[in-house]
Amino acid sequence: SPQDYQYRPSIHFSPSVGFMNDPNGLIYDGEFFHLYYQYNPIAPYAGYVHWGSAKSKDLYSWEDGPIVLKPTTAGEAFSGCAIIDHDNTSGLFPALPATDPRSKEPNLAIVYTRAAPKLQTQDIAISRDGGTTYTEISANPVLDIHSNSFRDPKVFFHAPSGRWIMTVVQSRLHKVSFYGSFNLKDWMHLSDFESAGLFGVDYECPNLIEVQLEGTNETRWLMLISINPGAPQGGSTTQYFVGFFDGERFTAEDAHTVFGLTDFCKDSYALQCYENLSISQATMIAWLGNWQYCEQVPHSTWRGVMTLPRHISVRRDTDGWIRLVQRPIGLENLRLSQIPTPFHHLPALTTQTVALPKNQAIELIIKASLEPRSQMLPDGTSGRAGRFTIDFSNAQGEKLTIGFDGFSCQLWVERGGLKGFMDPFFTREFSAALTPDVREFSLRLVYDACTLELYVNDGIAVGTALVFPQEPLDRVSFSTTNTAANIQQLEVYPLRATMP
Ligand code: FRU
Repeated sequence: SPQDYQYRPSIHFSPSVGFMNDPNGLIYDGEFFHLYYQYNPIAPYAGYVHWGSAKSKDLYSWEDGPIVLKPTTAGEAFSGCAIIDHDNTSGLFPALPATDPRSKEPNLAIVYTRAAPKLQTQDIAISRDGGTTYTEISANPVLDIHSNSFRDPKVFFHAPSGRWIMTVVQSRLHKVSFYGSFNLKDWMHLSDFESAGLFGVDYECPNLIEVQLEGTNETRWLMLISINPGAPQGGSTTQYFVGFFDGERFTAEDAHTVFGLTDFCKDSYALQCYENLSISQATMIAWLGNWQYCEQVPHSTWRGVMTLPRHISVRRDTDGWIRLVQRPIGLENLRLSQIPTPFHHLPALTTQTVALPKNQAIELIIKASLEPRSQMLPDGTSGRAGRFTIDFSNAQGEKLTIGFDGFSCQLWVERGGLKGFMDPFFTREFSAALTPDVREFSLRLVYDACTLELYVNDGIAVGTALVFPQEPLDRVSFSTTNTAANIQQLEVYPLRATMP
């Protein structure tokens, strides 16, 4: 259908046909970034879960690969991760003669959940051809606790204790269980992280990763837990905790189990962190969707999009608490000629409009501040500090608004003015509370077909939203209400398509 074409992103990964949800097996092998994913190849609906595959050298130009896992009598192939067993700790990678081309390939293994209706277990498959195909090992399952809600293993090598660590959820008990292993096949229970933050119905897709504390030489560990359903915004969301990991147990910073949400909109779920990157390169990708309406979104032959690759770290905020920071990676390399925006000051009640190319991803960077005092409006109300809005629109009267309120210091996004998808759960607007009493904001956004990503105040607030205009949004306006705005920075770029 025309929608399938119009909504196909040009720099975000999406499957050519079928249904895609979680990113799986994210790993950098020294040459390629692998992206496996939950995939139903036969219909644009969830279920009948396989692992699809793609790889890329730059995280933007993805080359499709074959299906690497299929449903078997042991169940569907649910989410999991990839690791490289450099030292063959598992014994699964017997040495090959140097003349065998496979001897040059990394010792790639994937750890995933086999999900049958009554049993979920953790299983392993290995690749000897650089991650193109995988063979399930005969010792499967490697971890079975006789549970029907035990899934989504994420494994990393913990050098200080010289062993592999797996985080995996007991989803209905709202627990992240930690296991340790020296050989990837025998796993010992180490600890549980539980009863913290939001529960939802299921805990899913745990990730534990060490990241930089910005502006210091310190690091912190992030415990990321996806929950579905039960998000404050509805449906699925991912929460995070900041703390420390001692090789056995995760403990929250300062013994305060404070949690945050990774997103102030509702279309970023089941994120996974790349394996085999350094701490300073910590990178994640999430599924750009929500279980509440992922099977209803208006495509006919394919469904599912991934977020842009994002660098993650943590930053101590003005209130002293440490928060997650996400920034898109590599967009600079995709920029085409900048679209001129020759205005630096917007008096109260004015609008400036710029035309945009159709069917091209757009990056917009803005830093603006609102003047402290509002002017009297024509109707006699003076009111408080005003609002600044960025409206993407088209001649059909559709509008997608991103706004900043100078009084409450909130940033909001409103997609309710788009007419391509009406669903009771497709929430129309979202807002994020920024630093109080600061009438200034910075925003980096990417609009690409059916996706909008907002990185606010250098990545400390992030909003990810599906957007479905009936026609492409081909202009952007900047408007003030009763307060003038000073624009310190404004850059708009079309981005070169990286996907066919
Ligand atoms: C998360 C999830 C996982 C599961 C997979 C099934 O979105 O529900 O818990 O492994 O999707 O496709």
